Amino acid sequence: MQANVNGMNLTYADDGKGPALVFVHGFPLNRAVWQKQIEYFRVTHRIIAPDLRGFGESEAGSGAVSMAQFAEDVHALLEQLGTGRVVLVGHSMGGYVALSFARQFSPMLRGLVLVATRSAGDSPEAAAGRRETAGKVKAEGTKVIFDAMAPKMIAPGNPDPKLAEQVRGFMDSSKPAGVIGALLGMAERSDATPILGNIKVPTLVVTGTEDVLIPPVESEKLAKGIPGAVLKLIPGAGHLVAFEQPIAFNSVLNDWLNGLKSKA
Ligand code: MLT
Repeated sequence: MQANVNGMNLTYADDGKGPALVFVHGFPLNRAVWQKQIEYFRVTHRIIAPDLRGFGESEAGSGAVSMAQFAEDVHALLEQLGTGRVVLVGHSMGGYVALSFARQFSPMLRGLVLVATRSAGDSPEAAAGRRETAGKVKAEGTKVIFDAMAPKMIAPGNPDPKLAEQVRGFMDSSKPAGVIGALLGMAERSDATPILGNIKVPTLVVTGTEDVLIPPVESEKLAKGIPGAVLKLIPGAGHLVAFEQPIAFNSVLNDWLNGLKSKA
């Protein structure tokens, strides 16, 4: 499905019936990574999964795209769709977007799920590295960084080489302008750690024990900083934990959502 959101044509999945559950993908991916979650949770929830601007089938703008802008896009889409309050799930860069959403639009949240992500901003070195990568994408295209990044999405010990190939395939639809915009936006994002204590909605933090892109210690910090947050580690899973171990991930999320229902 498509909607014009903040002047951009965004593509999204809208499937199932029930309380709204929103999935925001990481970098440089798109809603395809949530397929196993859409199939599982559509039975009990209304699932919304956008392609962020510049990714998947969504239109790309130009220049840096801040995490606040991505969050505004998600919020405007949810308003258009009349979802009411939602549980928002964000993976990695999608987690940066979810934290920004929590800062900007907390009344819209019923719960927050932070997957393989962190609250800290980039160090000056990391930000410089992102800007350099953005320059490389501009000059040479996306192939080099996608080839390097895809294998790191999966646990190093995972015996199935097809998983990384599939992830690499998902990346192909990311537009160079979208990749550059997100890299520059991530480089300039602020540290969300000081606002963690203000998050008042039930929060689940999930990660894989074998995440080589954002180490599990970052999830421990998130769970310590957010009042009442629950931390779940999925043994043997890498960065793209929901895609790599959908059965374990869906079970953790389902149990937590059931707890949320009984509290409501
Ligand atoms: C992601 O998976 O979204 C990225 O690894 C996030 C990042 O580069 O900080």
